[in-house]
Amino acid sequence: MCGIMGYVGPQEAGPILVDGLRRLEYRGYDSAGIAVTNGAISVRKAQGKIANLEALIASDPPSGSIGIGHTRWATHGAPTDANAHPHTDPSGEFVVVHNGIIENFQSLKAELTSGGSEFVSETDSEILAHLIAREYDGDLVEAVRRTVALSEGAYAMVVMSRREPRKIVAVRKISPLVVGLGDGETFLASDIPAVLHHTRDFLIIEDDELVVVTEEGAVIESISGEAVEREVVHIDWDAEQAEKGGFDTFMLKEIHEQPAVITETLASRLDQNGKVWLEDVGFDDAYAAAIDRVWITACGTAFHAGLIGQEIFRRVLRLPANVEYAHELRYADPIIGANDLTIAISQSGETADTLAAARLAVDSGSRMLSITNVVGSTLSRYADDILYTRAGPEISVASTKAYMAMLIAQYLLALRLGAARGTVDAELAGRVAHGLHLLPAAIEEVLEREAPVIAAAESIVDASDVYFIGRGLDYAIAMEGSLKLKELSYLHSEAMPAGELKHGTLALITDGVPVVVLLTQRAVYDKVISAVQEVKARGGRIIAVAYDSDTEIADHADMVLRIPDMEDLLAPVAAVVPLQLLAYHVARLRGHDIDQPRNLAKSVTVE
Ligand code: G6P
Repeated sequence: MCGIMGYVGPQEAGPILVDGLRRLEYRGYDSAGIAVTNGAISVRKAQGKIANLEALIASDPPSGSIGIGHTRWATHGAPTDANAHPHTDPSGEFVVVHNGIIENFQSLKAELTSGGSEFVSETDSEILAHLIAREYDGDLVEAVRRTVALSEGAYAMVVMSRREPRKIVAVRKISPLVVGLGDGETFLASDIPAVLHHTRDFLIIEDDELVVVTEEGAVIESISGEAVEREVVHIDWDAEQAEKGGFDTFMLKEIHEQPAVITETLASRLDQNGKVWLEDVGFDDAYAAAIDRVWITACGTAFHAGLIGQEIFRRVLRLPANVEYAHELRYADPIIGANDLTIAISQSGETADTLAAARLAVDSGSRMLSITNVVGSTLSRYADDILYTRAGPEISVASTKAYMAMLIAQYLLALRLGAARGTVDAELAGRVAHGLHLLPAAIEEVLEREAPVIAAAESIVDASDVYFIGRGLDYAIAMEGSLKLKELSYLHSEAMPAGELKHGTLALITDGVPVVVLLTQRAVYDKVISAVQEVKARGGRIIAVAYDSDTEIADHADMVLRIPDMEDLLAPVAAVVPLQLLAYHVARLRGHDIDQPRNLAKSVTVE
């Protein structure tokens, strides 16, 4: 998704903007650019990686201490130099960067064209610069306001003009925007990690707000012009947390942060007996006891986390639960009742489809609980209850630690609901709590067992297809393991319940085809072994994920990735780790960009 940067202060803006854009790279992009004002506006922009922009700047450095920058992820028009942001009006006096989509851009463009405007790009964003120039009559804020009134859609827009050279005007309609408050300098960005090394004090801009940024700070108003008071949020994240640490990629660093993430997510929320306190979850026991059904909605990896929640709510809490892709749920006309609880899961809290599904649930009268990693995210603001995952900033596009924190959050929620509904007794609660507290050490152990994972990666690096199977909670992990492998290695991969294999996919199992099998659910162990035998009989190669104590699997599998013994209910948290590492190592062996897989974006803020 597009990234936005802005700077007003005493320093040269160019290097600060480019540095910020680099820190936003994880959002995914295919071109980048900056505009800097120094009397006149200078624009530098280039398709491809930020290095291309840097080369351009090095050969012709723009000068000025106020500027805006952008990384673009193409929606309207190919990723070319011309379509890269910033965009100016024909006079070059107004310049705009934009994140999101102007839905009525065709009609606006037709209107401007019939008035004689000529466009140099294919983007919807360029029309904003034209409109602002047309609407300007001595007050930039009013020109922006009138432009917003004309443009439909969900977006964030940032505007600068040489006519009013010491300010940046920005608007948020859905797409995220934050202001970083420095000492005599002010920053603007799509999200906090981009400027965290400059300041820890932020103003979170909300939907339908306009902000005027100067070196003295920022003034927020609603789009319609009412003054807005916003509290400064102080962010405690360690700046180191947003860097790679000693690892070669953010993904590997984030995989290794998982034990700490579990500890953080549990901290002050769970005692040894399984009693749970969730600080931003406001419902009482009577409400929890009266829930008819739980809807879980999410996309991508967050959806896979929801598969685990669904299984736990059903199996342990005996509570009807459905996990639905947000993009499906929003158009499915679902029968969501007033006594249903909807859980929307999103690392970023900005995924457009998840926001829409969450809104639908709220409009249906359901209580809405969001599980998200980003404080102040849009999803958290829609929610009645929030369960923050405390994973810290996740930079790698492929999610690992945020996923794990989503699992932990759902175990906590299950304990909370189970206690209120009387479906989790003291003995089970104590056992689960004990197991949860032991998980960080167990994951540390799994992380140390990298050699067999590397061997497994070497064995599948040239495969054309890889299959993942498991039952129950293991099926949910198979789904996530398969997604990770696809995202990173670009190998074709599919996951299915182990029992489904024989109903079709078995036709594809021939000599040497790798099948990753998860075997952590003791109640269905023998059933999964039957599927393993079906694979072996066709010459398939088995890579198993199994407990240390499982001696039987060595007779069936070609390779075994071991995890320490634990409660089956908690095993997904450990079993996913070898699969994350497997995907990582296959991608590494294939020489791929691990933190930014091709075609993927960290946060998908368009439908
Ligand atoms: C994108 C990312 C995925 C992520 C999904 C949902 O597709 O590439 O890694 O799982 O969005 O993101 P969210 O922020 O809602 O969890």
